[in-house]
Amino acid sequence: MNPRHVAIVGASGAVGQDFLHVLAARNFPIASLRLLASPRSAGQRVPFRGESLPIEVLGPDSFRGIDVALFSAGGAVSRQYAPIANAAGAVVVDNSSAFRMDPAVPLVVPEVNPEAVRGHRGIVANPNCSTILLVLALWPLHRAAGLRAVVVSTYQAASGAGQQAMLELRSSIAAALRGEAFAQKALLQPLAFNVFPQVDVFLPDGYTKEEDKMLYETRKILGLPDLPVDATCVRVPVERCHSESVAVQLERPLSVAMARELLANAAGVELCDDPANKEYPMPIRMAGRDPVAVGRLREGRVLSPGLTFWLAGDQLRKGASLNAVQIAELL
Ligand SMILES: NC(=O)c1ccc[n+]([C@@H]2O[C@H](COP(=O)([O-])OP(=O)(O)OC[C@H]3O[C@@H](n4cnc5c(N)ncnc54)[C@H](OP(=O)(O)O)[C@@H]3O)[C@@H](O)[C@H]2O)c1
Repeated sequence: MNPRHVAIVGASGAVGQDFLHVLAARNFPIASLRLLASPRSAGQRVPFRGESLPIEVLGPDSFRGIDVALFSAGGAVSRQYAPIANAAGAVVVDNSSAFRMDPAVPLVVPEVNPEAVRGHRGIVANPNCSTILLVLALWPLHRAAGLRAVVVSTYQAASGAGQQAMLELRSSIAAALRGEAFAQKALLQPLAFNVFPQVDVFLPDGYTKEEDKMLYETRKILGLPDLPVDATCVRVPVERCHSESVAVQLERPLSVAMARELLANAAGVELCDDPANKEYPMPIRMAGRDPVAVGRLREGRVLSPGLTFWLAGDQLRKGASLNAVQIAELL
């Protein structure tokens, strides 16, 4: 691959910072790297491969000479600046939800539907973080036995709501231990010694937007437009890495032993399933790691034929930065 001129939009954020780790770790061929954010962090310097790079203010001229722009600054910024980046000749890999359900925009998890990038017209969307972790585990099961329905509950880390939310989790726990009140801003509810069943806003039918993303994005990535996916998304006082409890109904029976073998050999998945030795996926073990870990596999008791399992993965890494860099590599 020829070295590329790369820009990161949202370089000071939780995902933006992780981009730097992933680009360096994967030895992505970089001719130049431009770091962009809001005026709040302009002038800060960030270490990258032995250099100290400045963060610049995002503006209309930011994409001159850029080949690949990795966007991670929210939907409004993507809607405004992705067309500007395209007009300057850059291909955009977008981490926000702005373009994910646009039929003209590929929504890609490279281990699952890499062929989808071929049809891009300048923008490729990176799926929702919980959805990426889920489809990595669903894909080998679907190929072997056909997916009929999915019921999933998420246990989402504070960092899923950004850098400020991660800091708020720490400060609010410290305040609680001192017996002091704490007024959260980035998080929707108190998270110290608490969990709450709301990620994103509520929709008229009682589901949240995050739960809708898990339904519609899973359908688009797997190419299963009618797949029922019933999600409940919950914020938990974990700093980094999402976990999910998943029950699937299959078209054909699939033994637990066969499912284990399929998952052990699936790209992007790590089988972690030895309950007798207390081996199962946990967020604390997945921070900074690439695969999604799957375990607690058992025959479903309600959805039949089916399987029930648990997974955990780093939503900043595979759920955001790594998946986006893998898309850039495909491009
Ligand atoms: N956190 C996750 O686990 C995760 C996973 C998948 C996808 N995503 C998506 O990735 C995006 C970023 O999430 P995050 O968690 O990294 O959020 P974050 O920690 O709050 O970072 C937001 C970044 O966007 C920048 N930004 C905000 N408004 C801007 C503007 N008007 N112009 C230029 N830069 C602006 C911020 O710059 P300043 O620091 O200068 O304000 C910061 O660099 C969101 O779309 C989110 O939905 C997040």
